[in-house]
Amino acid sequence: GRVAVVMGGSSAEREVSLDSGRNVLAALKARGVDAHAIDGIPALLDALRAGHFARVFNILHGQHGGGEDGVLQGALESLHVPYTGSGVLGSALSMDKTRSKRVWQSLGLPTPKFVALPRGTDVHAAAKEIGFPLIVKPACEGSSVGVTRVFEEKDLDAAVALAEKYPGDLLMETLIEGDELTVGILGRQVLPSIHIVPKGAFYDYNAKYIAEDTRYICPGLEGDAEAALRALSLEAFDALGCYGWGRVDVMRDRQGRNWLLEVNTAPGMTSHSLVPKAAAVAGIDYQELCWRVLETSFR
Ligand code: DAL
Ligand code: MG
Repeated sequence: GRVAVVMGGSSAEREVSLDSGRNVLAALKARGVDAHAIDGIPALLDALRAGHFARVFNILHGQHGGGEDGVLQGALESLHVPYTGSGVLGSALSMDKTRSKRVWQSLGLPTPKFVALPRGTDVHAAAKEIGFPLIVKPACEGSSVGVTRVFEEKDLDAAVALAEKYPGDLLMETLIEGDELTVGILGRQVLPSIHIVPKGAFYDYNAKYIAEDTRYICPGLEGDAEAALRALSLEAFDALGCYGWGRVDVMRDRQGRNWLLEVNTAPGMTSHSLVPKAAAVAGIDYQELCWRVLETSFR
């Protein structure tokens, strides 16, 4: 039947999602899939109620109309329309970094020390508890929007003010200094890790989508270290109730310890994005990757 590729939406990651979506749409069409672009959740629900589509390829990113936070997944469940990726629980839990971390902590999985900052919290007291350097982020955003690394107390208020521009609570975390790694998951296959080497201080929005100067090393690690990272990533993904596909972001400190940061349940599929790079190294080209993601809706 016809496939709706839902993209865009109204989150802070709208532009990223449109970029991902256009690429996915072209690849599915090239594979012979009867795929059509739909912008955002309201248009999708209208089209589904009108009976226009048999399934949904969800490449929306982010919360609140972003389609990555469980809200869309719940609507699709109630309409009995199959869709790609994680269900309500995995999507909602992964969107909230603080609650993801609580689950991992409860299972003894490594994640950086943190303090949840509901609005109005005394951020300076929280910073004393964490110590510098630390990182301040909106708890429920993606693509590093609103994220600041803070090395000194004098820069804390500006970091909090920036993160507060986005909806929801904030999260303060110990800044792990070391290597940024990410692990894509496709069905039950764990893709080779990628070591991200940004030109600047960290892999921010600019480094993710605009600059062409980030280096990617894949696989990011070798031998037992790579195997351990992949196993940890799958464990972290399963712990949040995720399935289908996704990407687990990890920091590796200078002692070689891995620290879980977050899971992305509808990871980027732009030409700059990570899952396509890892898949390519595993011998899965972009078209095949899109097909395999579509297959996650066949359940
Ligand atoms: N949140 C962006 C799209 C990613 O994780 O790739
Ligand atoms: Mg993310």
